[in-house]
Amino acid sequence: MIEARDLFDLPAGVSYLKACSATPLMRPVREAGLVGVAKKSQPWTIGIDDSFGAGERARTLFARLIGAQADDVALCPSASYGLSIAARNLPIGEDRDVVILEGQFPSNVYPWTDAIGRTGGQLVTVPYPDDGDWTAGTLAAISDKTAVAALPAVHWTDASRVDLEAVGKRCRETGTALVLDLSQSLGAVPFDVRVVEPDFMVAVTEKWLLGPYQLAFLYVAPKHQRAIPIEFGWMNRERAEDYDNLVDYRDRYQPGARRFDMGEKGNYVTLPMAIEALERIIEWTPAAIEDHIAPLIDMTAEEAVGLGLIPTPAPGRSRHMIGLRRPGGLPADLPQRLAARDVHVTMRGGCLRIAPHVYNARADVERLIEALAAEL
Ligand SMILES: Cc1ncc(COP(=O)(O)O)c(C=O)c1O
Repeated sequence: MIEARDLFDLPAGVSYLKACSATPLMRPVREAGLVGVAKKSQPWTIGIDDSFGAGERARTLFARLIGAQADDVALCPSASYGLSIAARNLPIGEDRDVVILEGQFPSNVYPWTDAIGRTGGQLVTVPYPDDGDWTAGTLAAISDKTAVAALPAVHWTDASRVDLEAVGKRCRETGTALVLDLSQSLGAVPFDVRVVEPDFMVAVTEKWLLGPYQLAFLYVAPKHQRAIPIEFGWMNRERAEDYDNLVDYRDRYQPGARRFDMGEKGNYVTLPMAIEALERIIEWTPAAIEDHIAPLIDMTAEEAVGLGLIPTPAPGRSRHMIGLRRPGGLPADLPQRLAARDVHVTMRGGCLRIAPHVYNARADVERLIEALAAEL
């Protein structure tokens, strides 16, 4: 078990189970952000290292987390931004398709409907699997006609899983580009680009990566690092650090995936926060974080069955999050009613999402079950 609750500003009576929505900040992460805010109050304290150095440190840490190089990582404001870069650069074309999951989160859908609108092609939707495991259906949907498989590691509503290692292999066999949105797993589930070999992969920091809002990292495989950005910021050009000579306009970009970095990438508030959080996650390791959460998920599943609820089926589900459904449906205001009892969860698509992180323990699941028993 990871002993981490004291690192967070969580009052004793509050059971917060919404890592799938947004995680609370660790105190050192909050402090790092406050230092950044204070710098803006005294802007003469903001230096070139704040504008470029912090981004490099964050990029390097994210690369370490996923088995990549710093050159392979771009700084983005959102998952949609990173996925739009992927869709801007991967041609679909008539008679070719993009494979997604039924009910997939829209950030990894709209960029593809736009690409299809521009270049032709169609969306192929893998239907929801009865056993909670998307792998077989996804493998069957990917064919030589599939230009792109645009997927998560787990479904955002209930943590039903996709085996990305198997999907990566299938994509290589069929010449399909693999574009991943790991916003609902990275940090709490191990992932290695050397094993899965995605073309692009994005993850926001505000959820399982314990970081700030409005920051995401985009992994870009080396073969795509000469692709076209979606904005043309001056900070991504060669010698952008040389403020005196910025109008000596440059055609060349900074190396690797830096050409895709968002405008105003030198965010001296959010980047130091992400650095603190990534350092801690790397120290703990995603495998240990997953091992911390998994018994809480198993306990939730066992207890929920006793209340007549249906958990995401075990063989297919992820170990870090779970969905609970009820035959006939759950009351729409259930999250608010549970919140009134200081148990904080979310509901998406009629499914109650239970998403613990390192700050949770068995007592939180006990409180959840008690609150559900009282409200259902
Ligand atoms: C699977 C998934 N991807 C991405 C996001 C966030 O998307 P964006 O950064 O585009 O707002 C969420 C937020 O709920 C999500 O669940």
